[in-house]
Amino acid sequence: MDFELSEKQKEIQKTAKQFAEEELLPGVIERDEKEEFPIDAFHKAGELGFIGIPYPKEYGGQGLGYLEYAIAVEEMSKIDGSFGIAYSVCTSLYGGSIWYSDATEEQKKAFLPPVLKGEVMGSFGLTEPEAGSDAGGCLTTAIKDGDDYILNGLKCFNTNGPLAKYTAIYALTQPEKKSKGLTCFIVDRDLPGVRTGKRENKMGIRAAQVSEVILDDCRVPAFGKVGNDGNGFKTAMKTLDCGRIGVAAQGLGLAEGAFDRALAYVKQREQFGKPIGQNQYIQFKMAELKMKIEAAKLVLYRAAVHHDQGIPFTQDAAMAKYMCTNTAMEVTQWAVQFMGGNGYMREYHVERMMRDAKITQIYEGTNEIQQLIVGNALMK
Ligand code: CAA
Repeated sequence: MDFELSEKQKEIQKTAKQFAEEELLPGVIERDEKEEFPIDAFHKAGELGFIGIPYPKEYGGQGLGYLEYAIAVEEMSKIDGSFGIAYSVCTSLYGGSIWYSDATEEQKKAFLPPVLKGEVMGSFGLTEPEAGSDAGGCLTTAIKDGDDYILNGLKCFNTNGPLAKYTAIYALTQPEKKSKGLTCFIVDRDLPGVRTGKRENKMGIRAAQVSEVILDDCRVPAFGKVGNDGNGFKTAMKTLDCGRIGVAAQGLGLAEGAFDRALAYVKQREQFGKPIGQNQYIQFKMAELKMKIEAAKLVLYRAAVHHDQGIPFTQDAAMAKYMCTNTAMEVTQWAVQFMGGNGYMREYHVERMMRDAKITQIYEGTNEIQQLIVGNALMK
């Protein structure tokens, strides 16, 4: 057991931090207000190799692992939580849908590189109005017609939905089998019959674009069906295990970003003739938050290392997601509190981080679902 990052991991941490400071920090407040996604920064992140970190080079990746990827998401989310999730969805949820679906070599080579190189965005369409936590309750259908499949249905809360060139759509090829009849399709969003529906007006992660994706007699060539009929639910579950590492890293980054800002503030803000950080109450609270951040980080890094070592990591990912995102919510709320009236104002960043943190407790499986995953495993 070695708690030190390797030289390569430190280098990724440094370049991700530099990328976040140079490409994401400028305009982050305005993008939140206007709900604008920094698409140029996304392309650049792809060119620099961030999006493809955990995939082999022949598919447009870097041949590294989930620890390196989690570190990059963490660094970027310290500054811009919206970018953190948009990035994570491309890498974990879109990429994972292909990687964990038994896609053919031709399919991997067609559908992975454009997104992993940051040329275009990908998104993940599992959730439906009546299938949220109960992900197996999808109603979207994919009925075979000659060499094609005809897709009908509505996917909601689709992160990157309005921007994506490709969306992984989970649809029933055998509706009578319910969740065991789900299959994954990569849908090119330029196809006739697929369109962006309602765009969500959100509390946080406002720069990330989230919408419905509507399929109305969308004819998808058989090449778009990745994996075998009926494998979709398991593919989605394996993919979400990875996605939860990404969300945990996003939450951890938000927690650390807000903590750093609050720490700098309490050291210089003077009241009653001394910096407010000299008050023991603030020191104790900050010490407690620091301990929670460090504990959550260890659990997250362990989940990522287990992924990379081929050790089952479903429960590790659930624990990491739960701990990092609850820590994000707690730390960001305290950061606003420590910074008083200033903390409540947009220019001080932490109120945005608090709004961004809330969704990390909800998406890619609510934290109650994470408790269910860990609790069910305990009872086996
Ligand atoms: N890996 C591999 N296989 C898995 C698995 C995993 N992690 N979890 C379950 N499975 C398998 C089971 O072994 C089982 O296989 P068999 O039928 O062969 O025995 C099968 O899948 C069914 O498993 P369950 O009976 O446990 O499934 P369930 O219907 O009870 O659901 C659940 C389990 C954990 C609650 C699951 O539904 C779940 O994760 N729900 C949350 C969904 C979610 O995270 N949605 C977020 C969508 S993305 C998003 O948030 C938007 C965005 O863009 C960011």
